[in-house]
Amino acid sequence: MLVATIDDIRARLAQVRYPGYQRDIVALGAVRDVEVVGGRARVTVTPGTAKPEVVAALRTAVESAVRSVPGVEVVEVVVGTAEHGQAAAASPFDERAPLPGVARILAVASGKGGVGKSTVAVNLALALHASGRRVGLLDADIYGPSVPFMMGVPDARPRMTEGHKIFPVERHGLALISMGFFLDDKSPVIWRGPMVMSIVRQFLKDVIWGTLDVLVIDLPPGTGDAQLTLVQQVPVTGGVIVTTPQDVALQDVQRGIAMFQTVNAPILGIVENMSYYECPSCATREDVFGREGGRREAAALGVEFLGEIPLVAEIRASMDRGAPVMLADPTSPAAAAFAAIAVKVMSALERSDQGATAVS
Ligand SMILES: Nc1ncnc2c1ncn2[C@@H]1O[C@H](COP(=O)(O)OP(=O)(O)OP(=O)(O)O)[C@@H](O)[C@H]1O
Ligand SMILES: [Mg+2]
Repeated sequence: MLVATIDDIRARLAQVRYPGYQRDIVALGAVRDVEVVGGRARVTVTPGTAKPEVVAALRTAVESAVRSVPGVEVVEVVVGTAEHGQAAAASPFDERAPLPGVARILAVASGKGGVGKSTVAVNLALALHASGRRVGLLDADIYGPSVPFMMGVPDARPRMTEGHKIFPVERHGLALISMGFFLDDKSPVIWRGPMVMSIVRQFLKDVIWGTLDVLVIDLPPGTGDAQLTLVQQVPVTGGVIVTTPQDVALQDVQRGIAMFQTVNAPILGIVENMSYYECPSCATREDVFGREGGRREAAALGVEFLGEIPLVAEIRASMDRGAPVMLADPTSPAAAAFAAIAVKVMSALERSDQGATAVS
C-alpha cells in the first residue's frame, strides 16, 4: 500500500499559491504544521488575514491539493492564528504593521503617469475631510512629489521631535506628509529603489498621524515593483485606480487590479479623470474621447465604476494656486464630482472594514 510522507505533502503544498499572491503558501509561511498517520493527513495553516473569503479559498486549495497526494485518503485542514514565532516571522504580512491611530488606508494608483492621480488623491482627501472625517494624505510619489505644491505649502518643513518622530504638516484641514518636504528645490531625486524603500518605511514608522479616519496614499505612477512594495508595507483597506478615457486600455487597469490583488487589498473601483470637456461659458458637455469607456471597462473587469471627473481648466488652475477645486470652488461641477466619488469610496471602505473584522 502506498504511504504518503510529510515531505510528499509539503512538496505538494509548495505548489499551492496563496490566494491573491504569486507566491506559494509554504514560502509565505502560511503552513504551520503537517501531520500524517496512515492515510490521514492533518495540515494546520495560518492565514495572514481574517478575511473569510481568503480563509475559505486557502482551506479549499489546501484540501484539494493534499487530497491529490497519492496515499492520502482523509484530509483535515485546521485554521490557526499566526503566532509571533518563527513561522510568522517568515511571513510577508508582518511587514504590514498597522499604523497606530489610522482606521483605514486608501491607496490611489494609476497604470500610467499624468492621468491626474495626485489631483484625484488631493481632492478626494479634501472631500472626505469636508464630510467630517479626519484625513491624512501621504504623498508616496518619491520621484515627483506634487502634493506640497498642490496644497499650497511648497516650502513647508515638518516639525520633528527629539526622538526623530515627524509631525505632519497641517493644511486645509489635512495632515500631510510628502517627500517634497524633505527635499531642497535643487536636489535631484536620484535615489535607488532600496533607499526609496527605507525612506518610505521611515515615513510609515515615524510619522505621528494622530487619529485618522482615512489615510489617503498618492502612489507613484505605474504598477511595477516599487508601487507593489509600497502597498505591501501597510495594510491597505482599499485601492482606487485612476484612468483617463484614452488610457482605459484594459491592460493598464488590469495591471492595477493585479497589483492590489497581490497584496489582498480590495479594489474599490475605477475613477475616470478628464472624461469630458465642460465648456465654462456655455455649460455644455463635450465627450472629446467618446463616452462611457471607463464604465464599460469597469463592468468588463467586475469592479465598481466610481465616477468621472470633467476636464476643466479650473481644476488645473486651482491646483496651481495651491487651493484645489474642492476648496476653491466647492459648488462647481468638478467639486461635486469629487464629492460624489468620495461618498462611494467611503462606503466601500466601510464595507471592507466589516469584511476584515467579520471573522476573528
Ligand atoms: N480633470 C482635470 N482637468 C484639468 N486638468 C487636470 C485634470 N486632472 C488633472 N489635471 C492637470 O493635469 C496635470 C497632471 O495631473 P496630476 O499631477 O494630478 O497627474 P498624476 O497622474 O499625479 O501625474 P504624475 O504621474 O506626474 O504623478 C496637472 O497639471 C493637473 O492640474
Ligand atoms: Mg502625481
